[in-house]
Amino acid sequence: MKKLILSLFLLASLFSARADEGMWLPMLLGKQVYNDMVKRGLKLSKEQLYSINKASIKDAIVIFGRGCTGEIVSNQGLIFTNHHCGYEAIAAASSVKNNYLRDGFYAYNKDQEIKSELTVQFLEQIVDVTKQVEDSLKGLKWDDRVKKLQKVYKSITDKVEDKENGIAGRIYSMFKDNQYIMFVYKTYKDIRLVGTPPESIGKFGGDTDNWEWPRHTGDFSIFRVYASKDGKPTEYSNENVPLTPKHFLPVSIKGIKDGDYAMIYGYPGGTNRYETSYGIKLKNEVENPALVALRDMRLKYMHEQMIKDPAVKLKLASDYAGIANYWKFFDGETKQLIKYNVYDQKKQYETEFATWAKSRIGFKDIFTEYEKNYANWTPYSKHRQYLREGILGSPLSAFASSLIALETALTKPGATAEDIKKAADAANNAHKNFMNAEDLPSDKNILAAVAKAFYNDIDKSQHPVGVYEKLSAAYGDLNDENTFKKWALDVFSKTMILSDDKWNAFIANPDSASLQSDAMFNFTAAFVKNYNNKYMPLYTAFVNKNNELGRLYLKGIIERRPDGAAKMYPDANFSMRVSFGNVKSYKPKDAVNYDFVTTASGILEKYVPGDYEFDLPSKEVELIKNKDFGDYIDKNKNDLVVAFITTNDITGGNSGSPVMDANGNLIGLAFDGNYEALSHKIAFDAELNRTICVDVRYVLWCIDKLGGATNLIDEIKPIK
Ligand code: ARG
Repeated sequence: MKKLILSLFLLASLFSARADEGMWLPMLLGKQVYNDMVKRGLKLSKEQLYSINKASIKDAIVIFGRGCTGEIVSNQGLIFTNHHCGYEAIAAASSVKNNYLRDGFYAYNKDQEIKSELTVQFLEQIVDVTKQVEDSLKGLKWDDRVKKLQKVYKSITDKVEDKENGIAGRIYSMFKDNQYIMFVYKTYKDIRLVGTPPESIGKFGGDTDNWEWPRHTGDFSIFRVYASKDGKPTEYSNENVPLTPKHFLPVSIKGIKDGDYAMIYGYPGGTNRYETSYGIKLKNEVENPALVALRDMRLKYMHEQMIKDPAVKLKLASDYAGIANYWKFFDGETKQLIKYNVYDQKKQYETEFATWAKSRIGFKDIFTEYEKNYANWTPYSKHRQYLREGILGSPLSAFASSLIALETALTKPGATAEDIKKAADAANNAHKNFMNAEDLPSDKNILAAVAKAFYNDIDKSQHPVGVYEKLSAAYGDLNDENTFKKWALDVFSKTMILSDDKWNAFIANPDSASLQSDAMFNFTAAFVKNYNNKYMPLYTAFVNKNNELGRLYLKGIIERRPDGAAKMYPDANFSMRVSFGNVKSYKPKDAVNYDFVTTASGILEKYVPGDYEFDLPSKEVELIKNKDFGDYIDKNKNDLVVAFITTNDITGGNSGSPVMDANGNLIGLAFDGNYEALSHKIAFDAELNRTICVDVRYVLWCIDKLGGATNLIDEIKPIK
């Protein structure tokens, strides 16, 4: 085992993958991968890419918020990230009166910067802890391993934790549990909004253009990290000062050509490139269609209200964008997986693997086991989606489900008054947040629709006992849509959750009987408990078995390859990666060629005055018409370049990632993947995969010409 891990390590770093597939661990860049980068045009030394002792590029890259990447672009802690990464913070800072989401915002001096709830994390160091983890788990059966794993992780991360300096470690499983690496982060908590374009620029093209090229979105926003006077992470305070970073990325407005070197650092969230045919079948036939259908429904009801009222729009905007983003993704993912026959390719690989495995004891039954495992879980998979994306897709219902924790505290034998108070306080806080975010008209429609969908689409034998019978007895025929509408209306009018008086009276003196008889709690809890008692144990068993098989399968995959783990990099898991490639045009289909850049002229081609997705600020229209591009003009195109595409391998989580030239200068921000390669989490397509980036010249033009924030241009000092 140990030997395997070692060879995994060496080989993974010795060879590069074909084309531009590969999300490499920057600290484990072997000579060969590094040489490949140089061959492609890189002008930096390995030490400049990543160093523990000296400032290097990795010191300018941060985890931004919960799921994005950002980069430092000045010596005063200025951060660039995507507009869609700053979106929630921008919406939260906005009001109907000061509507920064709609109108944009720039701080013309530091006093105008706006506090946020965001954090950013800098990577301090990386430690391979495989031996420690394996030693602690030696001899355990898989299920016991799983049970002990988190404890083992904690015993290791406890040793590096330093609360005062905001330092904590997290351990990541690599190569499906064949290797464990600890990343140590420093977390800063005083992050301020510095600037954002209006949404008509930052989200130009909306969901119609999302995940597609050609693109004209100015997907950027600007923040700043603050620290205590001695540079330590600390809570927000007037006393805090902008952080002096170890490294920041110089910004270049020299422009790009087709074929130029491009390098992206960041935090790709997840890929599953060694997925089996069984997993793909379940995804294509059950999971993705269910998710897409339920999100379709929810989005429709939200959108209906958002277009009516700017206050509702602000309230729902961030949730809506998140739901819509992966609604389109999962729909497109399945379409591409089918189009490229990924299932058949996997099947064929598995047949070959099985032939190899016949004579090898450990691997012999691997696909029989996979098949059994999927057969056991598949009948309940749709149920799981319909609970998560359906029943709990209603915000009221989701909040009601969170009250199960309070019910548990209230009914648990031996619970102290203090336990109950703690649970009640938590519920009360969550209630405040819920009420602030709640939009009654859309939620009412959602609740009726998802309750009906569950009734119709999920096998009756899996329904929570008695729930639909009761509903039908009180409200009528379950095949009539109006029955569910009447019911939802009634639930909304009766539940104490939506009445401040009733809620306050309850929470001041909570009791289980009142909670259990609440119309909303009663309904949702029945679904959640039904799932938790009967189906969650099956799901957990399914996941554990899959992970156990996955570790073995990957070991076999490596053993089978003549060059072992060569051309292999661990699946993305929100740990820091670097990918390299080139700026590159492509051919999406017969007779169509896509250029490598889009321009301001294209913005005007798409412009639809007053449209929800394709409107523009009038000042932008005017400036583009006058070709007022200043220093940011692209001389070759005689136009302003808005976005470009590269061959780099990235995925969700990389949003906001810096795209750098051969010298490590910032040339753009990665913000999306293209539609033709939406199967990329499972199968990288060397021909068609592209990363969509906003050109930094367009970013600076928006800040400077449209926003008038020359203070920021002076701070950034772009290289001309
Ligand atoms: N597809 C982009 C990503 O996942 C997010 C774009 C957000 N915009 C939107 N129209 N929903 O990084």
